Amino acid sequence: MKKVVALIALALPLYAVPAQASPELAAKSKCMTCHQVDKKVLGPSFKDIATKYKGEKTAEAMLADSTLKGSKNKWGKIPMPPQKIAPADAQQLAAWVLSL
Ligand code: HEC
Repeated sequence: MKKVVALIALALPLYAVPAQASPELAAKSKCMTCHQVDKKVLGPSFKDIATKYKGEKTAEAMLADSTLKGSKNKWGKIPMPPQKIAPADAQQLAAWVLSL
């Protein structure tokens, strides 16, 4: 049996991930009730969140998780309640926040 090395090449285009989550998704998911992109409201601004976690490899998964489960004591005394959105949406929103 010979190895079929060419198959490996098929696995490579993972690179083309469209992390195009958007302000519309954030608005639709009611995030903007408490957040704004560049101003602190009830919650921290999304740009501040991006700055805080910039360069951390696990940030996207961690922020998606905080969005779904809620978060407290990281930014102040006001907690964020768990958000009732699809895990895929949370992932997309975390990627978008980190891109700001
Ligand atoms: C009821 C108000 C409220 C809503 C609605 C809300 N947030 Fe938050 N959010 C907060 C507050 C307050 C914090 C700061 C929590 C803390 O100090 O840990 C926060 C923190 C965060 C963080 C940082 C978490 C961390 O681990 O540092 C992210 C990311 C985030 N929110 C995303 C979202 C997204 C995405 C949505 C919409 C699906 C959303 N939030 C909706 C109030 C809200």
